[in-house]
Amino acid sequence: MSEIRFDGRVAIVTGAGGGLGRAHALLLASRGAKVVVNDLGGARDGTGAPSSEMANKVVEEIKAAGGEAIADAHGVDSAEGGEAIVKTALNAYGKVDIVIANAGILRDRAFHNLTEEDWDKIFAVHVKGSFNVVQPAFRIMRQNSYGRIVVTTSNAGLYGNFGQANYSSAKTALLGFASTLELEGAKYNIKANVIAPVAASRLTEDVMPAAALERLKPELVSPVVVYLCSEECSVSGNIFTAGGGYVGRAAIVESKGAMLANPTIEDVRDNFTKISDMTGAEEFSNAFDEVQKRLMAATQTGASA
Ligand code: NAI
Repeated sequence: MSEIRFDGRVAIVTGAGGGLGRAHALLLASRGAKVVVNDLGGARDGTGAPSSEMANKVVEEIKAAGGEAIADAHGVDSAEGGEAIVKTALNAYGKVDIVIANAGILRDRAFHNLTEEDWDKIFAVHVKGSFNVVQPAFRIMRQNSYGRIVVTTSNAGLYGNFGQANYSSAKTALLGFASTLELEGAKYNIKANVIAPVAASRLTEDVMPAAALERLKPELVSPVVVYLCSEECSVSGNIFTAGGGYVGRAAIVESKGAMLANPTIEDVRDNFTKISDMTGAEEFSNAFDEVQKRLMAATQTGASA
């Protein structure tokens, strides 16, 4: 089998000073990619002075292993920061082929105690932070008719997690983001996918026992992320889950549902089991395909209310 290579490709990995981002950057560089190692430094809640120390260390590791990389310490949480990160890639290597939007922080608190600042900061880093970097890169990818984008969600975003209303909401936003980039990027060979990782890192060091963390090395997640960044990747708008040696796909699906012409509240009650039955659930590739299902139902049932 031929090896998957990234020679001539330029990648930006945000939040690559540690944890998962560092592992993604090291793997990409080991396969020939030129990598912008972005990391703002700072604490896991996003506080602390910006520092290039973390990014520099990973660049040194990459270079020591014979790879090519440049450090970038801009924050993803401002439009100027995002532009500057992409400029780092352009100035050093002339283009951008790959973006892994991975930078992240946590501000966990039970919902009733959550502050507006905790909400806004999480959205600024995870959602706006992905937009800030991906948009300037996407414009270049369109011009070059090539791009691979991976954004980072979480099982908290897919399924919810106690104390993470802000984080899980932000992580779910990225699913819609990638689904729309799939559609807008298709004509230009730009693929945008989503990773839901589980790995030992400073974000998870106090939420799982040491023995479990030992089995959840970030390096077990990076192969699927890096595959999604390869020329060979033909899928877009998909969600992949990985950790501990498991790799899977998650999807948003809809039940076959019930056909109810002009439904009353009681019709909904009486058909609730059928409405909720996920047997034969369907996945849709875009919003319009899903609307067709409702138009077909209107035709079939003769609904007119
Ligand atoms: P980590 O804390 O080791 O890595 C995140 C990196 O992002 C840090 O190095 C941090 O300095 C950097 N960062 C934070 N704010 C930044 C900003 N404004 N600009 C640039 N860099 C910034 O944590 P980990 O676990 O490696 O997280 C990576 C991503 O994976 C995050 O998006 C996280 O939410 C996500 N994730 C991780 C899971 C896990 O089990 N570790 C589970 C689900 C999602």
